[in-house]
Order: sequence, then structure tokens, then C-alpha cells
Amino acid sequence: MTNISAGITAVHGYLPEQILTNSDLEKMVETNDEWIRSRTGISERRILTGEGRGTSEMGEHAVRGLLEKSGLKPNDVDLLICATVTGDYIFPDTANIVRDRLGITNGWGFDVNAACSGFLYALHIGRQFIENGSLKNVIVLGADKMSSIVDYTDRTTCILFGDGAGAVLLQPKEDGTGILDSEIRSDGAGAEFLFQKAGGSKYPATAETVANREHFAQQDGRTVFKAAVGGMVSAVQTVMKRNDLTNESLSWLVPHQANLRIISTVASMADIPMEKVMVTIEKYGNTTAATLPLCLWQYEEQLKKNDKIILTAFGGGYTWGATYLKWS
Ligand code: UT7
Repeated sequence: MTNISAGITAVHGYLPEQILTNSDLEKMVETNDEWIRSRTGISERRILTGEGRGTSEMGEHAVRGLLEKSGLKPNDVDLLICATVTGDYIFPDTANIVRDRLGITNGWGFDVNAACSGFLYALHIGRQFIENGSLKNVIVLGADKMSSIVDYTDRTTCILFGDGAGAVLLQPKEDGTGILDSEIRSDGAGAEFLFQKAGGSKYPATAETVANREHFAQQDGRTVFKAAVGGMVSAVQTVMKRNDLTNESLSWLVPHQANLRIISTVASMADIPMEKVMVTIEKYGNTTAATLPLCLWQYEEQLKKNDKIILTAFGGGYTWGATYLKWS
């Protein structure tokens, strides 16, 4: 039996041009730049503005760049998995809209709904098809237009989120690089602490749900903060232990970008120095499913073959996990 791993052989991202700064938010809600920077580490985020522009548009840009970089033609793509909680529509899925926008008629695609852990979940699903030898080119896309479900009258959430998309190409590798281990977890007891109440089957849209602002994301920040730290630390430590990784042998930690204080607490508890931690939150905020691929894209030039990398995320559901890979 050959030992095939799913290697990340290309990465690309897309960020909308429009910038929403802390001082812009000061004009919208009772907040200030100092509070936002010191409590979250965020100074600005990107927003996709304009009528009729959805997550698929950002996904298309990210995947188009990925195809150009890797020299693949649209129909070389066997499978496209899109992690998102802000798809263009409740249904159909956004993966197939992205495929259509790019002229991909071969193969198949579907969405994964795991909030901020969506990219990690989709990566874990995608790797299975490469490892079992059934597919050769799998694209994993994380894309969210959080501005479409953020309540810009709620100062506890509107300061956190931004829009963006990032994608990676998974291909078979037999040189020891690629995804080597994943610890993927979930716990539905966390559902009520971070969610969009209305618009689903339990509370379909009514004039009342709209008036009550129930179509926006709501979060119990302190509860989620604690759960996020606990979940990511435990997943990272599990993966480090299982693979004999130490703070010296690890090259990079790529954490979900929800709050700089969460990132630095996770790094410190896992005993990983901040020089090895990818951080993009200051400029882009929390782009939900897009944070991990956007980090890889922004740090791409610093990455070397065989770098030992752990990705970790925590999000609504609750969902969380960690994935260990050697850079291909
Ligand atoms: O990505 C998915 C997972 N999500 C996360 O991981 C996010 C987790 N949570 C967080 O990042 C943080 O809990 C927040 C950034 C959301 C909030 O930070 P915090 O340090 O936990 O603040 P807090 O909720 O404990 O609130 C402290 C104070 C409160 O005032 P009082 O009650 O002490 O008078 C808030 O009303 O800060 C107030 N506050 C603000 N003040 C100025 C809350 N938001 C703001 C604001 N500007 N934007």
C-alpha cells in the first residue's frame, strides 16, 4: 500500500477593497479605537459592499487565483468544498455557484457549515478523497461575507468581523509532506452561545424576527472566549503529543483569528512563542471560515517545504480542532 498524503500545493486569497476602520465604527456604535484594539487586536476589516454581491464572488476570486497559480484548468478540479455560514442562499450551496462562475463542469462540490472551524472541517473531509486515491485535485475554500449577518447596532459583535475568502489546492503527495494528523471535535451544547437565531426552519423569517434583529449573528462573548481557549489548547496539545512535536520542532501555529487575546493565550498555554504564530487579525478581523487560508496566503513567502504547521480553530456549534501538516 502506498502512503499518499494530501498536500497543500497552492494557496490564494481574496479580500474586498473597502476598509471599515475602528474610527468608522466609532461613528456607528458606542465604542472606541482603544477598546477595540486592546480587547481584540483589531484595527480594521474588509467589507464587500454593493447590491447583489455575495460570498460566491469572493470565493470565485480566491479560486481563480489558485487555478492560475497552479496551472490547473477549471475541469481539472475534481471536487470543490466550500466552508461558509454566509452562503449566497440558504440553498442551494455556494460551492456549486463558485464552480459555475469558474466554468467547472467536471466533478462535484458541496458546502460545509461549521462556522469558524469550517475550513478545518472541509480540509479534513477533502484529505480523505486524496488519501484513498479516488481524487487528484481537491479545492478547499473558506469564504464568508460576515457583514451580511453582522448587526451594526451591536457593539459587542460588529467590531469583530470582516469579509474574505481563502482557498487551498490539495494534491496527492508521497514525499512525506502533506496533512499528517487531525483532531476534529464538536459539541452541540454550545449552539446557543454563538448563532443566528432566525431564518432557519425553527424560526422562519417573519416581520417580527426582522424587527427583533434575529437574522444577525449573536454571541455570548465571554462564554465563547473561554470555550475557544480551552478547545484550541486541548486540540493543539493532543496533536503535538501524538506527533512528538515540541515548541522547538514546530515551525508555525496557524490559529483562527477571532481575538488577539485568545490567540496569545492559546500560544502561551501550548508553550509556543508568538514569533511562530501567524497573526492577521489586526487588518482583517474575524473572517470566519476564511481566517486560516488567509493566514497561509499572507505568510506564504515565509513558508518552506517540510515546515511543520498546526492549524487550529474554534467556532459556533461548538466546533473545533487542530490539523498537523508538513508544508508541501
Ligand atoms: O470566532 C468564533 C469564536 N468567537 C470568539 O472566539 C470571540 C470570543 N469573545 C471575545 O472575543 C470577547 O469576549 C469580546 C471581544 C466579544 C468581548 O471582550 P470581553 O473582554 O470579553 O468583554 P466583555 O464582554 O466582558 O465586556 C466588558 C465591557 C462591558 O462593559 P461593562 O459591563 O463592564 O460595563 C461591555 O459592555 O466592555 C463593554 N463592551 C464594549 N465597550 C466598548 C463590549 N463591547 C464593547 C465595545 N466598545 N465594542
